[in-house]
Amino acid sequence: MIKPHGADALKPLFVYDTEKHHALNKEAQQLPSLLVTSATAANAVMLGAGYFTPLSGYMNLADALSVAESLHTTDGLFWPVPIVNLNQDVSSIGDAKRIALRDPNVEGNPVLAIMDIDAIETVSDEQIDFMAQNIFGTLDPEHPGVATFKAQGNILLSGSIQVLNFSYFQTDFPDTFRTAVEIRNEMQERGWNKVVAFQTRNPMHRAHEELCRMAQKDLGTDGILVHMLLGQLKPGDIPADVRDACIRKMVELYFPPNTVMITGYGFDMLYAGPREAVLHAVFRQNCGCTHFIVGRDHAGVGDYYGGFDAQTIFDEKVPAGALQIEIYRADHTAYSKKLDRVVMMKDAPDHSKEDFILLSGTKVREMLGNGQKPPPEFSRPEVAQILIDYYQKSEG
Ligand code: ADX
Repeated sequence: MIKPHGADALKPLFVYDTEKHHALNKEAQQLPSLLVTSATAANAVMLGAGYFTPLSGYMNLADALSVAESLHTTDGLFWPVPIVNLNQDVSSIGDAKRIALRDPNVEGNPVLAIMDIDAIETVSDEQIDFMAQNIFGTLDPEHPGVATFKAQGNILLSGSIQVLNFSYFQTDFPDTFRTAVEIRNEMQERGWNKVVAFQTRNPMHRAHEELCRMAQKDLGTDGILVHMLLGQLKPGDIPADVRDACIRKMVELYFPPNTVMITGYGFDMLYAGPREAVLHAVFRQNCGCTHFIVGRDHAGVGDYYGGFDAQTIFDEKVPAGALQIEIYRADHTAYSKKLDRVVMMKDAPDHSKEDFILLSGTKVREMLGNGQKPPPEFSRPEVAQILIDYYQKSEG
């Protein structure tokens, strides 16, 4: 199987040993504690699940700045996005060196992880902007990722963590949330060696579905890992349980049995386009995938990124050999009225725009909100029905 990033074996920071887990849980109740941001909690879940192998905790300022600038830590590890614990106020922990991190997303704020603090550093506004500019390519406060990143605060805590649970992901999405460890194990059980991963934060429409099929066929993979984001999104995006239901229905009806693994991971959407695409590739390598689909406007929002910036970053900023996973690049994909099937536009050079069925996200939302199914060439009718039911419930 493909090796994890920067290590021979996965390094999940979740404490699997039952006795140790019990003792740490007990200890955590006595430790000074800090209520962390959702982004920090999501980082803990990803670290716990092995997705962020080989990291051992939150980065210090020098590493965070170095990663933001050059996609490498000060030790030379390739890593695309700073993994940080930023806070507005850490007065609750005094000068403690070992603390409990409390989960902002679960009622009662239970302890999510124990952290050994190496350093507490104050990040200047200029340094925050430097990181945001490099991660998101903009400082526009309207950008949802920039807004979230900058709202976290200026006090950076670095050090290793031991993770005690997977926040709300395991309880809310028991059939879908999987750790990198579990995904690798399941692939091994299935005998899958060559696997293509598909990132998504949407219900899967025809273009998404066909991209998976094309990648599977072109690469000759043993299977497809549909790996959906289960964490926080910006307002207006479709909740994870609804997306999950759409994806399950689509796979059940339109893919042969045992060719697709439907899974999800516990991370908040960054909307960082190209940088997030590289992070996506890193953690798909960690779950054992050999290939990763990057299409049009991957992890994008608004018109902050060029349609294929998330592909060119792999040529411009990812040194040869830094990653073992390979990128499957998809061109803009849509239904061709001339050919009567979904195609990548580059494969239909004689087509004009009018030859494709193209609908904007806004248009699709408007149709679904009015109880109207988009054409079957755009959305499977069974998927559209789930979305109509969701929109009607959320409006009524
Ligand atoms: S994302 O934020 O998770 O990237 P989304 O779920 O819409 O959003 O996309 C998942 C993947 O499918 C990304 O790699 C994206 O680039 C690709 N994709 C989505 N729609 C298209 C399309 N029409 N043409 C080409 N690629 C697409």
